[in-house]
Amino acid sequence: MAFTITRLTRTALFAAFGTTALFVALAQTSARETLNFNDGWSFALVAPDDVRSESIRSLKIGDSKPQEKTGETKRVRLPHDWAIERGFDASLDGATGKTFWRGVGVYRHDLHVDASDADKRFVLGFDGVMSFPEVFVNGRYAGGWDYGYLGFQVDITPFLKSDADNLIEVRCDTREHRSRWYPGAGIYRGVELIECSKDLWLPQGSVVVTTPRVEPETPVRGSALVKVETTPEIARDISDATVCLKLIDPSGQVVFERESTLDLKANLKKNEAFSQANQFPQYEDAPVCAFEAMLTDAVLWDVDAPRMYRAEVCFKDAKGNVLDEYSTRFGIRLAEWTLDDGFHLNGRRVQLNGVDLHHDQGLIGAASHPAAVRRQLSIMRDMGANAIRTSHNPNSSAFMDVCDEMGFIVWNELFDKWDGTAGLRKEDDFYSFAERQARQFARRDRNRPSVCAWSIGNEIADVETNKAGSSNPSGDAAKRVEFLHNAMKRYDASRRVGMGCFVESAIGDYPPKNPVLAPLDISGWNYGGKYRFARASFPNMPLVYTESSSAFSTRGYYDLRHPEKKDQYDDKALQVDSYDLISANGPRDIPDVDFERMLEDRYVAGEFVWTGFDYIGEPAPFERRAKVSYFGIVDLCGVPKDRFWLYRSHWNDKDVTAHIVPHWTWNADVTTNVPVYVYTSGDSAELFLNGKSLGVRHKDKTRTFKKPKDASFDLPDYYWIVDKFRLRWENVSYEPGVLEAVCYKDGQEIGRSVVKTAGKVAALKATPEKQTFESNDDLIYVEINAVDEEGTICPNAATRFTVDVEGPATVAGLGTGDPIDLDSFADLSHSLFYGSATLVLRSTSGWDSTSNGVRVRIKAESLDDVVLNIGQ
Ligand code: GAL
Repeated sequence: MAFTITRLTRTALFAAFGTTALFVALAQTSARETLNFNDGWSFALVAPDDVRSESIRSLKIGDSKPQEKTGETKRVRLPHDWAIERGFDASLDGATGKTFWRGVGVYRHDLHVDASDADKRFVLGFDGVMSFPEVFVNGRYAGGWDYGYLGFQVDITPFLKSDADNLIEVRCDTREHRSRWYPGAGIYRGVELIECSKDLWLPQGSVVVTTPRVEPETPVRGSALVKVETTPEIARDISDATVCLKLIDPSGQVVFERESTLDLKANLKKNEAFSQANQFPQYEDAPVCAFEAMLTDAVLWDVDAPRMYRAEVCFKDAKGNVLDEYSTRFGIRLAEWTLDDGFHLNGRRVQLNGVDLHHDQGLIGAASHPAAVRRQLSIMRDMGANAIRTSHNPNSSAFMDVCDEMGFIVWNELFDKWDGTAGLRKEDDFYSFAERQARQFARRDRNRPSVCAWSIGNEIADVETNKAGSSNPSGDAAKRVEFLHNAMKRYDASRRVGMGCFVESAIGDYPPKNPVLAPLDISGWNYGGKYRFARASFPNMPLVYTESSSAFSTRGYYDLRHPEKKDQYDDKALQVDSYDLISANGPRDIPDVDFERMLEDRYVAGEFVWTGFDYIGEPAPFERRAKVSYFGIVDLCGVPKDRFWLYRSHWNDKDVTAHIVPHWTWNADVTTNVPVYVYTSGDSAELFLNGKSLGVRHKDKTRTFKKPKDASFDLPDYYWIVDKFRLRWENVSYEPGVLEAVCYKDGQEIGRSVVKTAGKVAALKATPEKQTFESNDDLIYVEINAVDEEGTICPNAATRFTVDVEGPATVAGLGTGDPIDLDSFADLSHSLFYGSATLVLRSTSGWDSTSNGVRVRIKAESLDDVVLNIGQ
């Protein structure tokens, strides 16, 4: 089906996609229109025996598309991950999730350009394509990119025919990408089509907003100097251009408005030469104009009140015709990384309670659907997290938008290693690659208030130690660190540039003998309190704990015998006990140990826990046999593990946490010695079994790492600190019934938690997170459980069920958090895993609020069907 840019399509698309609402207003009079270009694509894999051998690096703009045979074609809607829908295979690599992610795929889309649009410029904006995307228009190479985690814009105008149908093809090739986790495959982020003026246009990143001076009076108000610089691309000799700037405050009021006249003639050649010489499209940086605005009563962006301003820039020609306009959000905040007192935001210390997140979205694979990332970040926020590390690569713009909107502090990371995981081969020039990616990264994210540091890498051992290796093939590690640091600074001088580090033996002396890290102006350290070594070596470098903990657990799985040491794993079950006493080996720890470090070491800005969510791939400690990580605080579906409540009890100081570990549905062979733990934001709790008190426990707030020699303790010494953060009853005698914890703070009851023994499975229960779709491309997550006759959830149920959906929605993913089962997330039949499964529904373009709604039927043998009516 041809995508025709008609007035009707535009109106319909604007109405359908809330995120482009800004442009609805602009569209009436604007020279620029931005269309959501996610629907109407077809996709096919290239036959493996017909894949061409040369790489993207050999293409030049305008080259003809090499011929390749593609297989069966299907219609898809972006964001799309071709690998996740192909399922899992036991023989494939566990590190990348036992998925079929390697291969070559082609996406196609028709585009009809009306004769009346012949004088327009058309630009395609891709937010991220895995990997090495090449964009062909009518069979000619128009541009591409060589890093799957960053987006790019391609001006396709020179290759378009007007008053005709045009064919857009996007070829993605993951074969040269290396990964330690599941990377995904295909156009896994959004695409937009921008229609603007041929004479002048404003590419992504061409309007830069900085706040060189911010003086907070309170955390939410102050005064600020705002500077806006802009760099248009110019294709015609424009002598009397006018540029206008509007600043709009969070309540929608225009608080600053200016116009000035410019002669853009001088910029003509420079711009054109710069963009045309590039096989990977890049646009000019040197600003042609700058405005400064002093706001005396500014509203600040803060973690609890993330309020943003908007800068609108508009260029007009001498006759007053609008050439192009651009709108960007920004925030006014003072972010300071101090040496001795951690991170300060708007004048006061804010402890970073952060999580590391990989980019995948669990059941929908790497597809970065805005509704999925919003849900992911809402779950993290409910836990009390206020900071995110985008480990170990740029996340999607949709993800970053939500970080801005929800008030997360972001450690924004560009790379893991500087090797095949970044798409770099030995023969590639590191320096030009690094410059290009740093530039693209900064141009995308530098106006975002959430971004408070750039990171140029993670645990690059050969670089940290300055020994030859895949990221340091010519032994010039120090030069590389300095180069990438300076590159980020060139495009954004306002933020610190750091790296996630790991090798403490590479430093630890003062002055440091190994100068590799010296150019950084902040450093992140992973595990074991290693930042302490860095403080000794680089006393002038602020510090953050970029990876803490690395605990393991499986939601719902309990081993009633505690481990003798923190890295004792059950090799037979291939699951990890959920009493939160187990972590990865080496200098990795259970959560409580790092809670204590953060209380002791206030010069550290805070921690980023490895990881907030389980992710596909890296299934340590069962690397070869599992497909999903065990590190997450919540499982792959977003269902909290017990650990979630432990973090919430310590981090979330607004809501009450009262949570009992484990469930209370045990077999007859379990009689004595059942450990019961309570995670609460209170300081004590009393536990009752069938109404009988099992005693009161208090958190021991005086505890430190040092266990007094004569102190008796019922767990191995390593766990001494846990009684500061959790309440334990180690030897409860099991009897079926009701277990209840009554939690107290300063002597006042604050909340209760109850677990009940469940009987046999009598029914399935489906709980949607919301009742209706908000647009025709929205997601609804539905948790499916089994319940007994009284409605108590059966925590061990493994009931097999099938899902059937009627109406304008599809199943975007169905699965459980089980790290080892190999049922495809595209299959409509699954078994509950420890009583739970999650269904992700996606509305289709046929959905609107007046349609008949969506009917979901869930069937299981010998149980009644469960029917959900969505949107009726
Ligand atoms: C770190 C690494 C992470 C992850 C983690 C698992 O060393 O930076 O990417 O692999 O270990 O514990």
